[in-house]
This record gives sequence, structure tokens and C-alpha cells, in this order.
Amino acid sequence: MYTLGIETSCDETSVSVTNGNDVLSNIVTSSVHLHSKYGGVVPEIASRFHLEYINPVLKKSLKTAGITLKDIELVAVTKEPGLVGSLLVGVSMAKALSFSLSVPLIEVDHLIAHLYANYMCYRDISFPVIGLVVSGGHTSIMLMDDIDKQKVLGRTQDDAAGEAFDKVAKILGLGYPGGPIIEKRALSGDAGKIRFPRSFIKKGSLDFSFSGIKTAVLYYVNRHKSSGLNEAVINDICAGFQEAVCDMIVDNALLACRKSKISTLVIGGGVSANVRLRDRLTQEAEKWSIRVSSPPLKLCLDNAAMIGGLGEALYKKRS
Ligand code: KG4
Ligand code: ZN
Repeated sequence: MYTLGIETSCDETSVSVTNGNDVLSNIVTSSVHLHSKYGGVVPEIASRFHLEYINPVLKKSLKTAGITLKDIELVAVTKEPGLVGSLLVGVSMAKALSFSLSVPLIEVDHLIAHLYANYMCYRDISFPVIGLVVSGGHTSIMLMDDIDKQKVLGRTQDDAAGEAFDKVAKILGLGYPGGPIIEKRALSGDAGKIRFPRSFIKKGSLDFSFSGIKTAVLYYVNRHKSSGLNEAVINDICAGFQEAVCDMIVDNALLACRKSKISTLVIGGGVSANVRLRDRLTQEAEKWSIRVSSPPLKLCLDNAAMIGGLGEALYKKRS
């Protein structure tokens, strides 16, 4: 069925047309350039941007899919989690369209949609799986028995993984969003030169803590800035930081699989675009015969297709 997906939970305004797991269009526009000088998303700026762009993005999405509003059979929208003002724009648009077109409306959880992106690409993944969401606002590990049946096994106790990337990039004066910039700088750095602490909540716990490593980077920078932090040192800091974050994520995600005796790990969220993290997860998982599934890059970052895909699957399951 033709499903219109709408995603406005943070700084991406996105509208898609999907049919089952087939993506007919997935238009994403971002206000990221407006936030970069602040080192993080400014909620007021993000919601104003959504208001301005939601209509043009909708039009472009329909045109790309080659359909009109009259063809839409279901509207799916991100309900939570996210910035309240930003969510409101998408939800208001979705409600207005559902009402005026007389089609059903389904509200979707953004985090589950990140994981569902895997099911849209790889048809051979079956439940149960361990889901790992690593994004700018969330870091959690869950046991997924079905698309509507999850249990959180662990989550961050302070900063999210993506937030740590963003804050470290800000400390180093590298801009926003931090993840892709740090990943690029790390390629020219030596991950073994500076060892940052790995925080583990307590033995056997699947919770995370990323605020310690962020503070460790801050202390390192403050201690060394008088002697000058040249580009090479910044690259080494990026590489050392990224490696520490990868270690923490890999250890907990694979521990969750082993504890639950589940041999499939599905990952999603902006940080899952990180190639070093993907490689480390895949390498370590092989030792335990665990399969790691990660969506292609365009479905890792915030996008409406994952919302439409999950929305239709949930709708069909309920009706
Ligand atoms: O899922 P997402 O697009 O939005 C949220 O739902 O939060 O994730 C955005 C986060 C940002 O913190 C960004 O720095 C991080 O994902 N990110 C990355 C990479 N690309 C985006 N982190 C590490 N490596 C990347 N390549
Ligand atoms: Zn997200």
C-alpha cells in the first residue's frame, strides 16, 4: 500500500513514499548548517526550519515517487522521541493529511524505526534479534521479539554516543555534527597513541556511560593546549576517542547477544554510519558466530522511509 512517511524529530525534515519495504522516494533536507556554529541542535531553529520546508519536501517526495496525494493509503509519522517543537510540525502535517484524505494515521517510535530499516533492506532477518540504537539522542540495547514487542536491556546513563561525538568535536573546535568529522580525522590519526578511559557501569551491566570519556578529552586538551595542539595531535585524539567509544559499544552489544543467546544483532541510528564501528562489530561478532546487520548509509541517518516502512508493517499487523 502507498504509505506516506513523515519524519521531523530533530534537524532533518523528511517525507517518503514507500510500498511495503520498497522505497519509492525518501527526500531528506536538513537544517544542520544552521546549527553548526552552536555545536548542537537549537530546537527553535529546527522547528522553524521544519515549518518552512515540510511542504516543499512533501511535494518533491510525491513527484519523485510519481504519485499524487490521492494515491496515498496510509500516513505514518514519528511520534517520539524527539524535540517537542519539531515533532509537532510532522504530527500536525500527518494529522491534517490523514483527515483530509480520509486515510488511516499511524504513529511510530523513531528508535524502533531506525532498527526496522534493516528489515527494509535484508529480507532474511528473523526475530528475535538484539537491537542496538546509537544516535545523537539515544543509546540503547533492546531485545526485539517482534516489531511491536521490545524490552530495553541497557541504555546510556548520561550522554548518548552521538552526543559524545558532537561534544568532543565541539571541544576540539571541529564543528557539528561531530560524528562524520571525527571519523574522517581519525583516519589520519593513530588510535594507539592516546588511550582514553572506557567506562563500564558495573560488571555484566548493559548500560552505557559516555560522559567520562568526553571529560577525559576535555582534560587532555586543557593539559596540552599550552604546548600547542597541532593537526596531527587532534587526529590522534579523534582516533583514540573513536576507538574507546567503539570498544564500549562493541562489548555491550555482543554481551547482550551472548547473555540472551541471540545470534543476530541489528544496528541503527546516526552513529551506526561509522565505518570503524561497523567493522569492529562485524570482526568481534564473527568470533561468537553472531550476524551483524546494519542498514546502508542513507537509511542510518534520520529519514522518513524507515518511518513509512515500520508504519505500514505495524498497521498491517494490527488490522
Ligand atoms: O540518528 P541521527 O541522524 O539523529 C538522531 O536521532 O539523533 O543521529 C545523529 C547523530 C549525531 O550525533 C552525529 O554526530 C552522529 O549521529 N553521527 C555519527 C556519524 N554520522 C552521524 N557518529 C559517528 N560516526 C559517523 N559517521
Ligand atoms: Zn535518529
